[in-house]
Amino acid sequence: MATSLLTFFLFLLYQPFISNANLHQTNLLRSQLISDNDPINKDIPVPLTKFFQVTKPIKLPNTKPCSSLVLQHDFGYTYGKSPVLVDYKPPYHCPSQNFSKIVLEWKATCKGRQFDRIFGVWLGGVEILRSCTAEPRATGIVWTVEKDITRYSSLLKDPQTLAVQLGNLIDSTYTGIYHVNITLHFYPAEEHPQYPFKPKHADLKSGYDFPADLILPISRNLPLKDGQWFLVQNSTDVQLKKFSIPRNAYKAVLEVYLSPHQSDEFWYGNPPNDYLLANNLTNSPGNGPFREIVVTLDGMVVGAVFPFTVIYTGGVNPLLWRPITGIGSFDLPSYDIELTPFLGNILDGKQHEFGFGVTNALNVWFIDANLHVWLDSKSLETKGKLIEYYSLPSKVSLVSNFSGLNGTFLTGAHRTLNYIGWVESSHGNVTTNSFQHFTFTNFMQMGNNGNLQILNQSISSNHTVYHNLPSYIYTDTLYQSFPLYLYTDNVDQGNNSYMSVANLSLGFNEDSHLGSVTTSLKNVQTGQGYMIVKGNLVTSGLGSTQQVYKYGGTGGCFFRNVSSSNYTVLYDKTHLCSGSQQQDSGFRFDKWRVRKAFLEEIGV
Ligand SMILES: *[C@@H]1O[C@H](CO)[C@@H](O)[C@H](O)[C@H]1NC(C)=O
Ligand SMILES: *[C@@H]1O[C@H](CO)[C@@H](O)[C@H](O)[C@H]1NC(C)=O
Ligand SMILES: *[C@@H]1O[C@H](CO)[C@@H](O)[C@H](O)[C@H]1NC(C)=O
Ligand SMILES: *[C@@H]1O[C@H](CO)[C@@H](O)[C@H](O)[C@H]1NC(C)=O
Ligand SMILES: *[C@@H]1O[C@H](CO)[C@@H](O)[C@H](O)[C@H]1NC(C)=O
Ligand SMILES: *[C@@H]1O[C@H](CO)[C@@H](O)[C@H](O)[C@H]1NC(C)=O
Ligand SMILES: *[C@@H]1O[C@H](CO)[C@@H](O)[C@H](O)[C@H]1NC(C)=O
Ligand SMILES: *[C@@H]1O[C@H](CO)[C@@H](O)[C@H](O)[C@H]1NC(C)=O
Ligand SMILES: *[C@@H]1O[C@H](CO)[C@@H](O)[C@H](O)[C@H]1NC(C)=O
Ligand SMILES: *[C@@H]1O[C@H](CO)[C@@H](O)[C@H](O)[C@H]1NC(C)=O
Ligand SMILES: *[C@@H]1O[C@H](CO)[C@@H](O)[C@H](O)[C@H]1NC(C)=O
Ligand SMILES: *[C@@H]1O[C@H](CO)[C@@H](O)[C@H](O)[C@H]1NC(C)=O
Repeated sequence: MATSLLTFFLFLLYQPFISNANLHQTNLLRSQLISDNDPINKDIPVPLTKFFQVTKPIKLPNTKPCSSLVLQHDFGYTYGKSPVLVDYKPPYHCPSQNFSKIVLEWKATCKGRQFDRIFGVWLGGVEILRSCTAEPRATGIVWTVEKDITRYSSLLKDPQTLAVQLGNLIDSTYTGIYHVNITLHFYPAEEHPQYPFKPKHADLKSGYDFPADLILPISRNLPLKDGQWFLVQNSTDVQLKKFSIPRNAYKAVLEVYLSPHQSDEFWYGNPPNDYLLANNLTNSPGNGPFREIVVTLDGMVVGAVFPFTVIYTGGVNPLLWRPITGIGSFDLPSYDIELTPFLGNILDGKQHEFGFGVTNALNVWFIDANLHVWLDSKSLETKGKLIEYYSLPSKVSLVSNFSGLNGTFLTGAHRTLNYIGWVESSHGNVTTNSFQHFTFTNFMQMGNNGNLQILNQSISSNHTVYHNLPSYIYTDTLYQSFPLYLYTDNVDQGNNSYMSVANLSLGFNEDSHLGSVTTSLKNVQTGQGYMIVKGNLVTSGLGSTQQVYKYGGTGGCFFRNVSSSNYTVLYDKTHLCSGSQQQDSGFRFDKWRVRKAFLEEIGV
């Protein structure tokens, strides 16, 4: 369900209406499910089951980390409560202040019954983790999320407020309390790195692939009775945030975090409205299966996101995600939008405004962003100008063919954005070209009078950035493709229960070139499951999941082939290799004076 405070009352309202009586209302991918189907004898003490998301290990320097537990909290009845706040203090106690890697570790245990809960972690209003909790079992589970947060280094050098929003509900049915620890690990740079980082060009070291000097929160301000994300509730809703940047910026990237909930949790399975209207299903989520996040700057479109289809831990069939969780569910992807071409519009020291909207949105999307800004240490002012701007709305097509509740729908969309602008700084007069291209196709088939749905969807995006530096062109390309196949069939069993069969295949593939660093990822999950559902409880069933993760590139490779069924890992093969390793150079906390000066100037 992965819902929040604002949805709590709605959620309570919805509860009594979930029954087989409205089974054929196309809401086939329900996530308001928890499992009561625990195969283990609850009276015999057993170790906690370890749940996990398959991902490559974080490349760490060969040094001993300096670690601190920054939050320890039990999330019980946290609905309607403000985010949990703690004071973060920089690791002044660490012997070295020259860190090359910083890792956030979320570790949680939970026992009993509980829904999947979306949560966010913010540092000074900057979101650093968006995630979904694992659904527990009666004998208890434990899971860990490790995230490389080195890109947020500049934030971590100053004291900040750390906020965690995790709306949980405890009563006689939903008993799982989430016991959470957040630890930060600071890894000192190696004195003699095994694979020294040798920039091809001197300019690299001074700027284009280092963590930003300043990160501005583009989120809601504390205090709040909810998360710091904005809530986008419909297709015309645009959430706005004012900000200003220092006058000596030479590069800017907007990192967007997002998650769909309630009516749009399974947006890719929402049928077109004409189908719902014709079948009197006007209470079912519709608007078709295409969604795109559109970002504006002072009303001008500056970027788009065709998002990855994260399936939360209660989604489709909760038994699929035990212990292997869905791709991205423990660490939702964020999306970078290159803004350097637009710097000329915002270098005036005045306030400007970002806007976030979602094409075809239904209630509700949680969205916020972080503005990463690189500052010129050798000048007080840079200048720039946008010289080319190309942005047309997505072209969307739909071919519908239905009769009653059976039918097929083919939805397509594509979009191209291209911006060019120059910025003059001590790096020279650098022209940046940012190009985004997206394609979307969704083939949806409804059968068995609306109880059967088959989706075959493909999303791909190409974000290429060229920085034309005086002596060379620094290129940054990210090509992503997200294939999804999903088969669900629900059969009424009478007795207020139904059987649901689901098969899926979900992929997250990525090719990237960042300067001279090239990487490639093929990450595919397949799953098969069935379950008997009574009310919101899964009373019996089985889920099996297989995953193949293949990563390779300049920094080495990682391969994992793992499979699970009925809570048990059936096989797990891992292979790790080192390549012509790219070592991050260290950076010292006390060297970021430029940022400090700016913060003093704006009175922070
Ligand atoms: C799942 O495993 C448990 C034992 O751990 C067993 O009792 C149960 O029958 C299994 N379920 C299925 C559907 O195979
Ligand atoms: C959190 O840290 C405390 C103190 O180190 C420890 O007792 C507790 O078991 C930890 N909890 C989790 C979920 O790791
Ligand atoms: C941090 O450590 C690395 C590796 O030893 C070194 O190359 C770099 O100069 C250091 N940086 C600073 C700012 O001291
Ligand atoms: C869309 O959402 C906004 C913000 O909640 C609201 O003010 C507006 O009335 C909504 N529009 C429609 C058409 O529902
Ligand atoms: C939808 O509702 C209208 C008015 O209540 C009714 O005339 C029509 O037959 C219904 N259509 C279907 C497909 O149930
Ligand atoms: C629409 O669906 C019907 C029933 O499946 C099929 O007979 C017909 O050929 C389809 N029409 C088109 C244009 O695809
Ligand atoms: C930077 O380069 C662009 C494109 O070559 C040019 O139009 C602009 O005038 C230059 N800016 C400055 C300050 O020289
Ligand atoms: C819909 O398809 C099912 C088979 O998938 C069939 O039994 C049923 O009669 C069809 N309904 C309509 C209204 O055509
Ligand atoms: C999904 O669609 C693609 C492209 O049309 C096709 O190649 C693929 O076979 C389809 N997959 C399934 C499972 O139908
Ligand atoms: C991405 O776009 C760039 C710029 O148009 C192009 O050179 C590159 O071939 C594209 N990559 C893919 C995988 O489509
Ligand atoms: C129907 O549900 C009741 C109450 O949960 C249960 O006692 C009974 O065994 C169920 N019957 C069938 C056929 O599932
Ligand atoms: C679902 O997966 C199971 C197991 O792989 C397979 O037997 C079944 O045919 C699949 N069903 C569909 C509709 O793809």
